[in-house]
Amino acid sequence: MTNQVYHGLEGILAGESAICKVDHESGGLSYRGYAIEDLAAEATFEEVVYLLLMGTLPDPPHFLDFQNELVSSRAIPSHLFDVLQDIPTTVNRMDALRTAVSYLGMEDPDLGLNTHAANLRKAIRLTAQMPSLLAALNVYKKEDNNVSPQSAQSHAAHLLAILSTEKPDAFSVKALNTALILYAEHEFNASTFAARVTASSLSDMHSAIVSGIGTLKGPLHGGANEAVMEMLIEVDKIGDVRQYLRGKFANKERIMGFGHRVLKKEDPRSLIIQRYAKALGERKNQTKWYDYSLQIENIMREEKGFYPNLDFYSATVFFLLGLPVSLYTPLFVCSRVAGWTAHVIEQHDQNRLIRPRCRYTGKQHLRFVPLSERDAN
Ligand SMILES: CC(C)(COP(=O)(O)OP(=O)(O)OC[C@H]1O[C@@H](n2cnc3c(N)ncnc32)[C@H](O)[C@@H]1OP(=O)(O)O)[C@@H](O)C(=O)NCCC(=O)NCCS
Repeated sequence: MTNQVYHGLEGILAGESAICKVDHESGGLSYRGYAIEDLAAEATFEEVVYLLLMGTLPDPPHFLDFQNELVSSRAIPSHLFDVLQDIPTTVNRMDALRTAVSYLGMEDPDLGLNTHAANLRKAIRLTAQMPSLLAALNVYKKEDNNVSPQSAQSHAAHLLAILSTEKPDAFSVKALNTALILYAEHEFNASTFAARVTASSLSDMHSAIVSGIGTLKGPLHGGANEAVMEMLIEVDKIGDVRQYLRGKFANKERIMGFGHRVLKKEDPRSLIIQRYAKALGERKNQTKWYDYSLQIENIMREEKGFYPNLDFYSATVFFLLGLPVSLYTPLFVCSRVAGWTAHVIEQHDQNRLIRPRCRYTGKQHLRFVPLSERDAN
C-alpha cells in the first residue's frame, strides 16, 4: 500500500464504470458511448434516462412503454405533499428535498429489496416523482401548484407547467430538455461518489440518493447554479461587472460557475447551454443576463484563466424560463437522479465496499488520566 495522500482524491481512479466517459484532456463527454453534443441536439431527456439506466437507446415501442411508466409514476403520497407544504419557506429547498426523498424511501413498494429489478423500478419512480416534490416545495406556491402530475408528457414540459411563472413555448421546453440532458451524468463527481459509497455498504437506493442530494447541495458542487444567479442579480444592482469582480478578486473569493476539478479548459456542456442562454435572452427581450455573463466569462478567462462550467449559463437559462432561483439546485437533482440511480444499480450489480484509508496525523501514545484526576482547564 502506497503512503501517498491524494487530497480530495484528485486524479484517483476510484472504480470502474460503463456509464459515462469524461476525457480530461479533450474535455469530451459521452453517456454510454454517445457524444453529449448528439444527445443534447437530438434526444429527449427520457431517452437519456433510458440510456443511462438500461445501457442502450430504446426502440420506439420500448420508449413508449418507458415514457408511459414515467408519467404514471409521477404522483407522490398526498400526505407527503401536505408535509412538504408545511415546511417553512425559509428552509433551504435542498434540505427539504433531502427529507422528502428519505420519506419516499420509507413508503416505497420495494422497501428492503436491492435486486437489479427492484433498483430499476425505484430509479424510474424516483426520477418520475422528483418534479412532484419540487412542485410541493415551490416557495411561490402558485395557485395551480397542485397541478395534475399528468400535466404534460415530457419531463421538461411537465416541469415548466408546474414550476414556471411563464407560459412555456416549444423553444423553452427544448431549452430545459437540453439542460436536463447536460446535467444528467458526470461519472465520479462528488454526489455520485457519495451515492455509490452509501450503496456500497448494501444500503438501499433511497438512502444513496439522500447522500447524493446532501452532497450536491454545497456551493462547490450543485449549489453553484443558485449562487451564479445571485451573483448576476448583484451585478445588475451595481451595474458594473468589472467593479463587481474587482471586489471579489480583492477578497480572494471564488467566482461561482467557474473551474472544475477534472476539466481545466472548455466544459462542452457550457458551450451548449450558453447558446440557449443567448437565444432565450433574445427571444424574451432580456439580454442583460447573458451580456453580464459574457463579460464575466471574458474577464475570468483573461485575468484568471478559468473557464465556465455547466452551472454558469444554466443559471441564466433557468431564470429566463421563469423558474424560481431557490429551485435551481433541486432542478439539478431532477436530472442527476438519473445518473445517480444508474450508478447505484451498477454499484450493487458489482459491489465491493468502498473503504479507503487515511494517513493519521494526530497525537499518539498519550497516557490516559481518569476523569476525576484531570486538572480543570
Ligand atoms: C469546482 C472547484 C471546487 C474545483 O476546484 P479544484 O480543482 O479542487 O481546485 P481548488 O479548490 O483546489 O482551487 C485551486 C485554486 O484555484 C482557485 N479557484 C478555483 N476555482 C475558482 C473560482 N471559481 N474562482 C476563483 N478562484 C478559483 C482556488 O481559490 C485555488 O486558489 P489558491 O491555490 O490560490 O488557493 C472550484 O473550481 C470552485 O470552487 N468553483 C466554483 C464553484 C463551482 O462553480 N462549482 C461547480 C463545479 S461544476
